[in-house]
Amino acid sequence: MRKRIVVLPGDGIGKEVTAEGKKVLETIASLFDHQFEFDEATIGHDAIEATGQALPDESLEKMKNCDAILFGAVGHPKYDNDPTLKVRPEQGLLKMRKELGLYANLRPIKLFDELLGASSIKPEILKGSDILFFRELTGDVYFGEKGRKDEGKTAFDLMIYHRYEVERIAHKAFQAARTRKKKVTSVDKANVLESSRLWRETVQEIGKQYPDVQLEHQFVDAAAMKLIQNPRSFDVVVTGNLFGDILTDEASQIAGSMGMLASASVGDSVGLYEPIHGSAHDITGKGIANPLASILSVALLLDISFGMKEEAESLIKAIDQTLKQGYRTGDIADKTTPKENILNTQQMGDKVIQQLKKLTKEVAA
Ligand code: IPM
Ligand code: MN
Repeated sequence: MRKRIVVLPGDGIGKEVTAEGKKVLETIASLFDHQFEFDEATIGHDAIEATGQALPDESLEKMKNCDAILFGAVGHPKYDNDPTLKVRPEQGLLKMRKELGLYANLRPIKLFDELLGASSIKPEILKGSDILFFRELTGDVYFGEKGRKDEGKTAFDLMIYHRYEVERIAHKAFQAARTRKKKVTSVDKANVLESSRLWRETVQEIGKQYPDVQLEHQFVDAAAMKLIQNPRSFDVVVTGNLFGDILTDEASQIAGSMGMLASASVGDSVGLYEPIHGSAHDITGKGIANPLASILSVALLLDISFGMKEEAESLIKAIDQTLKQGYRTGDIADKTTPKENILNTQQMGDKVIQQLKKLTKEVAA
């Protein structure tokens, strides 16, 4: 198959990990006889420095005309320490999500058995956890009206949901539940928020069209607690933009590390794939970032946007094998990991590629 992929490395470790993701895509193309054409585009801090815009029009144009997008991260400490700066890297990410209609953010939380010891949660609680989050991505307090009043002494961000926004993400969650354990947990704060009451009401109604799927509702505070108390009690979770942002960072501990979590953003047209970790400036430039979240994002890209199931499965297997052989990046190493098995970003990418080649040779033989 011939496909066009736009790579947006962005800021911080985004550049380091997407380089590995791209390397993996090139390997898949050659092993499975596909033609992947790559184009690069800018976003975030670098884009602001070069053009004054967090997401230049040229980048957006490229993205609208490709088959899939591989994205790294945005963010820079300069802005974190100065809230008065008006043009901010994160605006590029939000604009991209909105303009491309990427309303559904899938965040699979799957624990590789080998990493049971890497989490701060007890292994017996974690074992067998497998959750698929549907985070709504283009609504909520992220996109509601915001501003200042009283000469800047009062600030507000409007938490707002429209019915159609809840309906379409709910459908996605129920449809996915049908291919899994047939259970959906919808998370809101309906005991306090009107937008959550609309959310709950709408999810209940959509749920009637899926009588074979069990639907339960949880308040976000309780869900945050249950997630680490009994992660196995969740299968498909559907929630709003802000709650989903927070809960999936928490849930990353179930997978051992933020460095292991990939995500897919889909909606009206092209799909975008990215690690859930951010730009991580504390480790930028050291070459030690875990590239597996980016590589797992590549697996989602192959599967969801290109329908390349076999390629995606081989890739996951290659990651699994690499971990089974004991290789780790620093974030997923533990006391028992021998020093020589702790790899840097590029070495980890290379190990996965090596496994991928080996696996495809075995299949061909
Ligand atoms: C994420 C990130 C973004 C978000 C930031 C960088 C704007 O935390 O993708 O989860 O809040 O959505
Ligand atoms: Mn986040």
